[in-house]
Amino acid sequence: MTQISPSILSSDFANLEEEILLLEKGGADYIHLDVMDGVFVPNISFGPPVIKSIRGITDIPFDVHLMVDRPERYIKNFYEAGADIITVHQEATTHLHRTLEEIKSYGIKAGVSLNPATPLETLEYILEYIDMVLIMTVNPGFGGQKYIKSMDKKIADLRKIIDNRNLDISIEVDGGIKLDNAKDVIDLGADILVVGSGIFGAEDVVERTKMFKNL
Ligand code: DX5
Ligand code: ZN
Repeated sequence: MTQISPSILSSDFANLEEEILLLEKGGADYIHLDVMDGVFVPNISFGPPVIKSIRGITDIPFDVHLMVDRPERYIKNFYEAGADIITVHQEATTHLHRTLEEIKSYGIKAGVSLNPATPLETLEYILEYIDMVLIMTVNPGFGGQKYIKSMDKKIADLRKIIDNRNLDISIEVDGGIKLDNAKDVIDLGADILVVGSGIFGAEDVVERTKMFKNL
């Protein structure tokens, strides 16, 4: 069954606790936390102190997406802040294998994200070290952007690779997921959908989260 990882990037930061409790009520499987450094992406969001301060609100696993240059500098900080999955960008770290090993040394899951223009082939020799591949279906940096349709093939190709090689890797898809395209993305092979504006843009966040869950 497909899992939902709502991104709080589009939530009301003045009411983070209430927003997270709404996601919990709606049955969210993860909380997606978009960390942006103003260097790797043209936007700044939040870091370990905020994550640490919301960790006590819920038991839902924290899915931390680091849109940060040289993320290896901060893995320990995010682990200590309460991350259950740490995803780094392939484009942002020179020694990806070492970075993944560090994430896993804390006993948590390691993800790798690919920008839209980055080929799947960059992960060819490292797949066995990865728990999750996060396919970006927008250029990272902002919520509320439009799904890039040519990413359909990338998701389907990754699904084939994982199934053919019998790998234990989840596919997460992030960017522009709405009620009207979520089912297609699931059919292409996604295991986890990140949804930001598609949930927080709704009148009723609990209902909308449930609708994504029931797709
Ligand atoms: C984009 C972030 C996404 C974003 C998704 O840089 O990685 O997680 O919050 O937002 P929507 O669902 O609005 O595209
Ligand atoms: Zn994200």
